[in-house]
Amino acid sequence: MNDRKDERFRPATELVRAGRRTDWTSDPRLGGGVVNPPVWRASTILYDSIAEMKARGHATHDKLYYGRRGTPTVWALADALTGMEPGAEGTLLYPSGVAAITSGLLALLSPGDHLLMVDTAYEPTRQFCDGMLKRFGVETSFYDPLIGAGIGDLIRPETKLIFLESPGSLTFEVQDVPAITRVARERGVVTMLDNTWATPLLFPALAHGVDVAMMSLTKYVGGHSDAMMGSLTATPALWPRLRKATYQLGQAVSPDDCALMLRGLRTLDVRLQRHGVNALAVAEWLAARPEVGRVFHPGLPGDAGHRLWSRDFSGASGLFGFTLKGAGDAARARFIDALAHFGLGFSWGGYESLAVPADPQAIRSATAWTDPDALVRLSIGLEDPADLIADLERGFAAMGGGG
Ligand SMILES: Cc1ncc(COP(=O)(O)O)c(C=O)c1O
Repeated sequence: MNDRKDERFRPATELVRAGRRTDWTSDPRLGGGVVNPPVWRASTILYDSIAEMKARGHATHDKLYYGRRGTPTVWALADALTGMEPGAEGTLLYPSGVAAITSGLLALLSPGDHLLMVDTAYEPTRQFCDGMLKRFGVETSFYDPLIGAGIGDLIRPETKLIFLESPGSLTFEVQDVPAITRVARERGVVTMLDNTWATPLLFPALAHGVDVAMMSLTKYVGGHSDAMMGSLTATPALWPRLRKATYQLGQAVSPDDCALMLRGLRTLDVRLQRHGVNALAVAEWLAARPEVGRVFHPGLPGDAGHRLWSRDFSGASGLFGFTLKGAGDAARARFIDALAHFGLGFSWGGYESLAVPADPQAIRSATAWTDPDALVRLSIGLEDPADLIADLERGFAAMGGGG
């Protein structure tokens, strides 16, 4: 199973095969194998001799050495994610999505470097730039997510990395990723993309010119709201640098969590399709409601990002936002508190729907968020959308008049 590394199948088939090398799933002495790579929990690895111990110290990532360098369960997940990104050399795993972002930036930037960060980045990504990166002598300029090839005007001799996130956090602007990565390659600047919303199934990042694709596996890959992890999948040119920095930073993940992520990965294709269909149904319903100001979902033909999304993405996942017309904090709180199916909680991408208030004003600097209406972010799960719509109707009824 999956020992023919060079043979590539369609994405849904790759999801089933990926990471299931016979080395990790079978033992000839036992006469066969199992479907899923077993959970290899380990800190200590035992060696037969000093010579073997020395030799293994120089081995690459898929030889047992010490628990922090992983076991077959960890390698199977990394290998599977690499298989999902055509053109990738390898994947590194981190205990959270934020750890993947910060480790990638630390690996690729040095004091004196300049970073171009998209203005619609996830808030902790922004905080890391303004906080630790600044303290370590890296300067960040935030840029308009809609800048496209105009990014070239912001590149300086010391610019080393352009960070993208598409669609953007909370407000879902779709970036022209191919235009930005084309300019970046011409100018010798590395690109890194937070691809959590789409996953490689809806947007293969490296095929669109990205050098390092990041995902919070906590969201759709895990899919069940019970585990946290992040990943960086990189080109052959950048993979060795990322791996070295990841070892130096001591980043390691639990094999038990990797088994959960592998389980989630096998059903990612069908889940994403259902998340996408459900979310679009809810978004279309909301767009027709008098209580709603704007709906931010790139799958809607009227959305500002629809053209680029239709060109570059093969589908939409389940996360989008909308404003409540004329509503302020209090009316939004009445709306959200009245919801029964939608949970109120952070994160997204799980099988259950969630609703949270979103306030982008304070976390934008290159652009201004001027819409006065209160914004709500929905993560649409796998329920029947008719029940979700009935729930949202309950919210509108509870909102009543007044801000
Ligand atoms: C777009 C995006 N990127 C990264 C993260 C961080 O992932 P994690 O929660 O696994 O650290 C999140 C979390 O909400 C996110 O929304």
